[in-house]
Amino acid sequence: MTGNPRALLFESIHPSAEGILQAAGFAVERISGAPEGTALDAALAHATVVGIRSKTQMHAAHFQRHPHLMAVGCFCIGTNQVDLRAAESKGCAIFNSPFSNTRSVAEMTVAEAVCLFRKLFEKSAQLHAGRWDKTATNAHETRGRTLGIVGYGHIGSQVSVLAESLGMRVIFHDVVRKLPLGNAQSRPTLEALLREADCVSLHVPETPATIGMIGAKQIALMKPGAILINNARGTIVDVEALAAALRTGHLGGAALDVFPDEPAAAGDLFESQLRGCPSAILTPHIGGSTEEAQELIAAEVAEKLVHFWQHGSTETCVNLPEVDLPVLRAGQLRILHVHRNVPGVLGTMHTLLAKARININAEYLQSNPRTSYVILDVEGFEDPKLLDGIAAMPETIRMRTTAGSNAPSASDSRK
Ligand code: NAI
Repeated sequence: MTGNPRALLFESIHPSAEGILQAAGFAVERISGAPEGTALDAALAHATVVGIRSKTQMHAAHFQRHPHLMAVGCFCIGTNQVDLRAAESKGCAIFNSPFSNTRSVAEMTVAEAVCLFRKLFEKSAQLHAGRWDKTATNAHETRGRTLGIVGYGHIGSQVSVLAESLGMRVIFHDVVRKLPLGNAQSRPTLEALLREADCVSLHVPETPATIGMIGAKQIALMKPGAILINNARGTIVDVEALAAALRTGHLGGAALDVFPDEPAAAGDLFESQLRGCPSAILTPHIGGSTEEAQELIAAEVAEKLVHFWQHGSTETCVNLPEVDLPVLRAGQLRILHVHRNVPGVLGTMHTLLAKARININAEYLQSNPRTSYVILDVEGFEDPKLLDGIAAMPETIRMRTTAGSNAPSASDSRK
């Protein structure tokens, strides 16, 4: 697709994305909701890039029918609504925003720790039921208590900083060696952390090693009256074992934002053994759901789409080899070439350019086992048709060019 790029934004993406795309020359169209079927095809037919959230399903057939699609921005964390391999096979880049809601999750976690130590939800529920229970028994200050963070990544380390500012003592366990922030200390095993913490907060991804990571055996290791927070993924905690520990009083409370079986849509019935446990705070997977996070996500993904469109940068792309590229110098042409990762492609490209007496100023390359992405900054360029030979190579998946201010205009070709 040549000429003015068109960006289509679905699913009420935060307006801050629009300005960033428009400033980069995109004509932006917004479509409310998540189109499907013929409505989605009709929209994709004239899009250069699309912005979706979690509801728009982009299957292999969409990438087959709309090979001109240059990139899809997932304005959310997950990308399982998109067939990533199908997009890769067409050289279409997929971006997302994995960390823009880090602060929102961290703040909620610390708020829940305070609420659980003070039994605020239980006291509030009692008062709603008309019972005035003004007792200090089992209510604790957060200051001085030990927080055990499992998974010291983006969210875990933010929780660490916020918790220390409240006067908590922070310990953490991670499978990767991490720089402790502030006065936090690492623990070599999960078991050591569970034995020592007054509050255990989980911030690990869902992996084969973390599914069922906290079961009856691990809960038994926790201190009597300790609290457990899971704002990570539902499968990490054995809900039955947790509900039992809350009902016997071995654990003093829990906060859960994620569950092994989450309802598919708003209004659907939520079933869990934790329903009716007064010491459990239950929230419907809203850890990252704040207006601030939505705004950050919109800006981050829109900027990634713009950098890809203008410079070819695939940094943090989830399906194509990642290349971070400098801004192109005036008078140069950048050849952005996605091809099947087989021997000989670079050699052929170099030969074609040399025959056309085109000088290569810079070359960047990254590959995964299936696909390579090579970028050549060239000059000494008179006829863009000289590149037709490269576009026509049998290994080419997609080729486009982008220009410094004096060079021939941008173009796109793919197979
Ligand atoms: P991250 O990738 O930055 O950090 C995860 C950390 O866990 C890494 O340091 C990793 O080394 C560590 N880890 C992995 N396996 C481990 C194991 N077996 N034992 C100990 N440590 C292990 O991830 P981030 O952004 O901090 O997210 C953490 C969790 O929060 C993820 O599960 C994510 O899906 C979830 N999340 C939940 C949200 C919500 O709405 N409730 C919103 C955003 C993220």
